[in-house]
Amino acid sequence: MAPQNLSNAIRQSPPVDLTIPYDAAWVKGKTILITGGASGFGASFVRLWANNGATVIVGDINVNKGVELVRDVQKESGNKNIHFVHCDVTDWQSQVNLFKEAVKLSPHGGIDTVVANAGIAGEDNMQRGKDLDAAEPPKPEFKIYDVNSTGVLYTTHLAYFWLPRNPDSVECSMESKPAERVRDRHLLLLGSIASFSSIAAQPQYGAAKHAVMGLFRSLRATSHPQGIRVNLLCPYFINTPIVTPTARFLLAGGGMGEIKDVVDAGTRLVADSRILGRGLVIGPNLNIKQLDNGDWKLVELKTPGSHETAIWEVYADDWVEVDAFLHRIVRVINAFQAMRGWAGWASDIVKMVAYKVGIVNR
Ligand SMILES: NC(=O)c1ccc[n+]([C@@H]2O[C@H](COP(=O)([O-])OP(=O)(O)OC[C@H]3O[C@@H](n4cnc5c(N)ncnc54)[C@H](O)[C@@H]3O)[C@@H](O)[C@H]2O)c1
Repeated sequence: MAPQNLSNAIRQSPPVDLTIPYDAAWVKGKTILITGGASGFGASFVRLWANNGATVIVGDINVNKGVELVRDVQKESGNKNIHFVHCDVTDWQSQVNLFKEAVKLSPHGGIDTVVANAGIAGEDNMQRGKDLDAAEPPKPEFKIYDVNSTGVLYTTHLAYFWLPRNPDSVECSMESKPAERVRDRHLLLLGSIASFSSIAAQPQYGAAKHAVMGLFRSLRATSHPQGIRVNLLCPYFINTPIVTPTARFLLAGGGMGEIKDVVDAGTRLVADSRILGRGLVIGPNLNIKQLDNGDWKLVELKTPGSHETAIWEVYADDWVEVDAFLHRIVRVINAFQAMRGWAGWASDIVKMVAYKVGIVNR
């Protein structure tokens, strides 16, 4: 297998062509579980998907907001298949309950899409050690990391259990027909621009969102045996309650993205079953022109060759170019292993035993 075919081998679809329309109505009949769905992006996703005939199970720690949202959305959309289940994503049992409840509430007894959306930001104590010179330094509280990383790992683990058990679903495929592919097996992760860029004063958030990116890139390479498609959203700063006053102060004068564009990008990924292993960045809506060297230039509206967008493909060429390096190095290491053959294996085993019984110590 040639390295340039690696994206085929992991069944990653080509970069998303954002000029091709999709239909939000393709979510009709799907059962979607979303964590952190009571506010911000989540609440807007719930509204749109409810209006388009999906069943949505919202798991959130905020009971008041969740119950209110579900009541309002049911009323506005006339869709009774919108439900709230209390869930703290950092609590394993709480997430297990959410998934089990979702399966019970699902009209077809399965889950088509899981959206790992719950997240928090806020004052970060990482760089502000307190009483660390005490005889017994207190254990720090790393809630921001726990919600944004451990919570996502729990959601992912449960998704990989329930998605392949979705009745009548078949393996994901880039040849599928989204209008007909109602049963799906899809995990949508919420990264951030902080998944691949530094975020000052929010080290836990930055570490957790980098973890989400690592999770995404690792999962998609080996998701096809279970037929699961995994995609990623990486919003820039968007106007929701998660953006702290300090961040708003620092961002003042700059651009902020809009929830509607996150909802547009996320809905495309949920609705279009042909999209496998892709990541989309969402930022302020800008009119740009691509230069010959690949850079983007901000230009006046209607400049020839320019277009307006708030959504970009990220890592468009990663498996084709960057990760091909990993493939090449693994191949060359495997070739080395093959060259050493059984003799090499036996000599390593002898060394390992000698190490274990203490004959050699290095
Ligand atoms: N708004 C942005 O600028 C931005 C940018 C990049 C990424 N994101 C990510 O998007 C996701 C959604 O954020 P948002 O902007 O809609 O924020 P939000 O604060 O409006 O929504 C987050 C939701 O998560 C819920 N939540 C928090 N802790 C939870 C827990 N332990 N268990 C269950 N639910 C919990 C909250 O109650 C809330 O409903 C997050 O993962 C966030 O990190 C947001």
